[in-house]
Amino acid sequence: MTETVIFICDSEALEEGGKGIRFPLIAGSEDATGFAIRYNGTAHAYLNRCAHVPIELDWNEGQFFESSRLFLMCSTHGAIYAPETGRCEGGPCRGGRLRPITVEERDNQVFWRPDEYLIPARASTSTNNDSENHE
Ligand code: FES
Repeated sequence: MTETVIFICDSEALEEGGKGIRFPLIAGSEDATGFAIRYNGTAHAYLNRCAHVPIELDWNEGQFFESSRLFLMCSTHGAIYAPETGRCEGGPCRGGRLRPITVEERDNQVFWRPDEYLIPARASTSTNNDSENHE
């Protein structure tokens, strides 16, 4: 259990139903991004990975809400998710959900908390893997 929290953005940067803020992290052993949004006044964050096909949701960077601003939407095939829970509410993500990230908001700043699966991007710079192709 870690007490570390990582700064995402100032609170004012997260507008209600507005653009999301992306941030880098490591999911398992892979480079990935998380994103934070604000809904009903509360900041929420998720791993930026669709439950349908494991790719990022935002075709236009930071564009996570669909036009009604009631749901998060994957730009690839239109899966929609509840902003408060990340649960799939329609489309090809049926039965799935976004991976939540613990968020803390204090002193007008928004932070995320790493866990057993999601860790800060910089913490893994010493990782050595054999996935590169050598010609
Ligand atoms: S990849 Fe997100 S809906 Fe298909």
